[in-house]
Amino acid sequence: MNDVDDVQVERSLNALLALPRSEQPAAVEALCCALPAAEEEPWNTAFGPTSLYHAFTRCSVAQTLHAANRAVLRPRLDARPGFRVIEVGGGNGALWDGLLRTDDHGEIVVVDPHPDGADGVRRVAPPGVRVRHIQAPVEDADLPDADGVVCSLVLHHIAGADRAQRAGVGLAGNGKLEALQHLRAAIAARSGWMVLNEADIYCDLGLAPGDALLIDRLLDSYVRRCAVAIVEDLRTRTDADAALKARWVQILRDWSLAQVHLAGNASYAARDVYELDVVSWLALLDRAGLAVESRRFTDRWMLFHQYVLTA
Ligand SMILES: C[S@@+](CC[C@H](N)C(=O)[O-])C[C@H]1O[C@@H](n2cnc3c(N)ncnc32)[C@H](O)[C@@H]1O
Repeated sequence: MNDVDDVQVERSLNALLALPRSEQPAAVEALCCALPAAEEEPWNTAFGPTSLYHAFTRCSVAQTLHAANRAVLRPRLDARPGFRVIEVGGGNGALWDGLLRTDDHGEIVVVDPHPDGADGVRRVAPPGVRVRHIQAPVEDADLPDADGVVCSLVLHHIAGADRAQRAGVGLAGNGKLEALQHLRAAIAARSGWMVLNEADIYCDLGLAPGDALLIDRLLDSYVRRCAVAIVEDLRTRTDADAALKARWVQILRDWSLAQVHLAGNASYAARDVYELDVVSWLALLDRAGLAVESRRFTDRWMLFHQYVLTA
């Protein structure tokens, strides 16, 4: 495959998924090699209008997730004029595009270690909404009191359920629990709310590098759900031009399918994602003192799960 060929990509993926499970990891590696390599943009390093992440936010799985978050946020913003909302991990600001109104007044505090982490949100914020950037990882940040928190597709970047689990594999610092405790403290004073989105898959430090279960879990999420969703978009989205589809193929190759290689080869510290399944998230949210008001999958591939929480 030298060019983006939607039909061939779909056929190859379907053939791979029809193989016995034990043969699928090698077939994923072969499909990665067959897909065209493009200029290098390491995943999750750029969030501007030409970035791979921007292209990801145009995939159906991301669009339905952001739409589900807008539906939760809009009435909550209306209920608190002059709101202060913390967004953990600003990405390209896609959530706020179509959510904020020209007459909104308030403040969005973006907590993101990336130097451009708040730029995407700034680009779409109306004049009455101030955007402030705390350039730090959320697990270490000092956070102001807030009416609400949005934490979407970020906590899986933090290895380990908590400090203790990290220490057990030689990693220093805070884990997901400590990040959630900071966020809970931020909303507690104002009896605020929090929206969390993450995938439903366990691939955290409880599974060692190379563990067959880790590889199969990543296949379940990143190939059987995520890759299938991306390929369906490639085949059916008439609003996507050739350039966008080429970006989607890049995401398929370098992020989605690549997770299987990382599961087999990367050390604890070098793994790209550290996700939890729904049961593990519920246990961790309970430990952090966050109550679940509602929760649901936001897409029909059952990839991303949304939790609406209170302190
Ligand atoms: C996958 S994007 C998600 C963006 C956005 N929240 C969304 O739902 O589209 C991850 C974002 O989280 C930021 N990030 C990564 N690790 C983080 C951490 N430990 N604390 C806060 N933000 C982090 C990245 O720089 C990036 O902006």
